[in-house]
Order: sequence, then C-alpha cells, then structure tokens
Amino acid sequence: MKVTVFGSGYVGLVAGACFAESGNDVICADIDPAKIDLLNKGGVPIFEPGLTDLIKRNKAQGRISFTTDLKKATLHGQFCFIAVGTPPDEDGSADLKYVLSVAKTIASYMEDHKIIIDKSTVPVGTADKVRAQVQTVLNERGAKLTFDIVSNPEFLKEGAALDDFMKPDRVVVGVDNKAAGDLMTELYHPFMRRQENMIIMDIKSAEMTKYAANSMLATKISFMNEIANLCDKVGASIDHVRRGIGSDQRIGHHFLFAGAGYGGSCFPKDVQALIKTGNQFGESMEILKAVEAVNYRQKAHLLKMVEGRFGKDLAGKKFALWGLSFKPQTDDMREAPSLVVLEGLLKAGAQVRAYDPEAIEETKRILASYPQFANHADQVSFAENDYDALPSADALILVTEWNEFRRPDFERIKSSLKVPLIFDGRNLYDPERMVARGFEYYSIGRPQKDRA
Ligand SMILES: NC(=O)c1ccc[n+]([C@@H]2O[C@H](COP(=O)([O-])OP(=O)(O)OC[C@H]3O[C@@H](n4cnc5c(N)ncnc54)[C@H](O)[C@@H]3O)[C@@H](O)[C@H]2O)c1
Repeated sequence: MKVTVFGSGYVGLVAGACFAESGNDVICADIDPAKIDLLNKGGVPIFEPGLTDLIKRNKAQGRISFTTDLKKATLHGQFCFIAVGTPPDEDGSADLKYVLSVAKTIASYMEDHKIIIDKSTVPVGTADKVRAQVQTVLNERGAKLTFDIVSNPEFLKEGAALDDFMKPDRVVVGVDNKAAGDLMTELYHPFMRRQENMIIMDIKSAEMTKYAANSMLATKISFMNEIANLCDKVGASIDHVRRGIGSDQRIGHHFLFAGAGYGGSCFPKDVQALIKTGNQFGESMEILKAVEAVNYRQKAHLLKMVEGRFGKDLAGKKFALWGLSFKPQTDDMREAPSLVVLEGLLKAGAQVRAYDPEAIEETKRILASYPQFANHADQVSFAENDYDALPSADALILVTEWNEFRRPDFERIKSSLKVPLIFDGRNLYDPERMVARGFEYYSIGRPQKDRA
C-alpha cells in the first residue's frame, strides 16, 4: 500500500519506518530541509532505540524515502498521515496551524481519492476542521475529488516506540464510514498478529481517547507524587504503599512510581489542552487542574530538597547531575524536570557538571537559546561519562533513571564526591543500603530515621 507521512519527527519517522518494514511503499515528508537532508544522507535526527537500523534497512530496499517535495509526497500516498506537532498555544489549547497547513497541502495537490489520517494529538472537533480545510481548497480548485478523514491517535512511548508501534496494545481508529475503517484495518493488519486489537469508533471518540489516555497517565503520576510527599511527612514509605495498592487488580502495578514529575512532549501539553477543551464546553476539569499543579510543584521538589540541606544560597557549591532527558532512552528534553532543577541551581549560584547518555547536545542547544539560562552558561559543564561528573561535587543529583545509573560503583561515587551525598529524584537505590554504604541519601517519599 502507498503511504505518505507528513512530519518526520518522533511519531512520523517511527510510523513511516514501521509501515515500510511491513512491506508498504512509504514517503516521509517534512518542511525542515536540514532534517530531510540528514535522513537522505543516512542520519536520523532523533535518538530512538532501533530506529536508525530500521530506516537504513528499509531505505536500502527502496521501501522508504524522504522528501521536502510536498506535491510529490501528496501524489504518492493513498494513505496520507498527518504527524506534525501540535504545541500548546499561548492559552494552553493545541495549536493546529501545522495540522491545517498539511490539510491545505494535501488538498492543493491531490488528484485522486485520499484517506487523510490525523495521527497528531488533536482536540475533539479537529477532524471537522481538517475536513473543512480540505473541502475549501478543493472548491477553490474546482476539483471534484473525494476524501476520507480518519482519526488514528498514536500511543507510542519514546524509548520503546518501535515495539509499541509493531506490537501495539491497541490501535484506535475513528472513522465515519465502514470502507475507510476496512482500509485502515488492512494497513494495520501486519501489527495485529499477537491479537486483533483494532478498536474502531467514531471520530470524536478517537480524538478524545488520546487525551483521556494521557490525562489518566499524568493523573497516576501526580497522584503518586502527592502521596509520596505525604509519606515523607508522616514517616511512611511510598515503596510499600505502591506495592500495597498495586496488588489491587482494579489499580494495577503500572505507572505508580513517584519521582521528579512528568515532562516530555505529550503529558504536559495534552493535560493543558484537555483543560482548555473543558473550558470551552463549560466543564471545569478540576482533577486535571490539580494534576498539572501537583506536577509543577513536583518538578521543583528535588531543588527544595537541595535547598533544605544547603540553604537557598548555593554560591560556591558544585553539583553533579545525572540524567537530563525527560525520561530514559530518549534525547527529548521537552518539559524535562532536569531543566527546572538546572535553572534553580544556576540561579542560586551553583556550578553544575551534568551527564546524560544521549541528551547533552540537546541540552547545550536549550542552554544557548532559552532566556532563563542566559548569563549562566559558564556555570554548567558536561561530563564525558557518569563518573566524570562527580569529582569534588558537593552532592550527586539524579534526575533521569537511565539504566546505567541503577547499579553504579558506589565506592567510586563516594571517593569522588566531596562528601557522600545523593539526592535521588527517581528512587533508584534502597535507602537502608545507602545508609549502610555510608551515604547521606535523600529520595522521594521514603523518609529515613537513620540518615547517615
Ligand atoms: N513524541 C511522542 O512520544 C508522541 C506520542 C504520541 C503522539 N504524539 C503526537 O504526535 C504529534 C507529533 O509529535 P512529534 O513528537 O513527532 O513531533 P516533532 O516535533 O518531533 O515532529 C513534527 C515534525 O513535523 C514537521 N512539520 C511541521 N509542519 C509540517 C508540514 N506542514 N509538512 C510536513 N512536515 C511538517 C516538523 O518540521 C517536525 O519535523 C504531536 O501531536 C504529538 O502530540 C507524540
């Protein structure tokens, strides 16, 4: 089948590569010439495990190509996926200008029937806007062409995106006619070998499903963070509480870890956008407002722990920071908790030496371009590896739970730091064992009676 994917970011590249891997003829289009140039030269603009090899293999076999030629891309695909960004507008609602611009492009160049599929995360009612945009341009052209609008939200997780796409828990497809649903089922059939888990529904429900899913996940995180903070105060352990409640099948064990708050390109903006949709329809979305407020506070929680130990003035202090990306297995820094920690440390006068296995280049780009980091560049340096961040630091602050941080050489950490002191924003280590190893150790929701 012929597939075009507009937008060659995380979602577009993963979808394009996976559709190619299952034998389809795919063109990935983007308006960013640098990105397409890199892809055509064999590079991949993002870090996602397995993606480079998958693209390389399918490119070599002629099943995937990359272009900035939007006309060529439109003419190619029977299926035209829209996988462009939907960043928050100034008021928190999803900015649809990129989505509608692709709709306009498709309508301007199409010469036969197209299935136009919205894979970007978009508010309820966007399919109607896309349909109106396409029809307006076709009318202007005097072109009597037919098209389908489909909603097919994406649920992949960065860091495990290929697996999520190839072996999905479910594929949600919103359609307004059976023929479009059947074609989507055929396209996704290769990914349904484990189980038939295509959920076909109406378009508005599909659009809402994506926001409801991300908002539920964000709610779990904020809920557990709030409970963890209370555990700290009352002397309970969030580890025990998590196991205790997770074993209730109605709750389940997944996604119950307390930490330094959620970030990334999806949860923050999708929670905000759903609150905005609620406002537009007279629903005040109280739970989601609280989810957002708790997360905002939680991102500064590590910083508060550092201040609690050292005071607000951190001039003359030096900190080692492990983990910058918003979660492991990605170089994505969008809304990363590390940025809040970094900003707070720098503004309080501290020096920071940071390490991340993948996100250092992206962090350098952010430090150079975000106004809050202006005038602080000389306070930050980057380490070659995790241990290289430690020498003569007053403490290690762990922000992202990369695997390599899970079982480090504690003796080496101890001998490198000025004093053996760790602030752990991801609860990676056992508090009692850390005390036995001679560390002063702070984590989230696991108070210690006998801190070293
Ligand atoms: N990143 C994720 O984990 C994830 C998961 C599920 C859903 N989503 C949703 O998918 C959508 C895309 O997210 P992403 O992370 O891939 O975004 P991204 O920012 O990584 O990529 C978007 C790409 O679209 C390109 N683009 C913009 N306008 C274009 C146009 N008119 N024609 C062609 N290309 C154009 C941009 O240059 C960019 O390369 C968003 O709505 C997001 O919420 C993301």
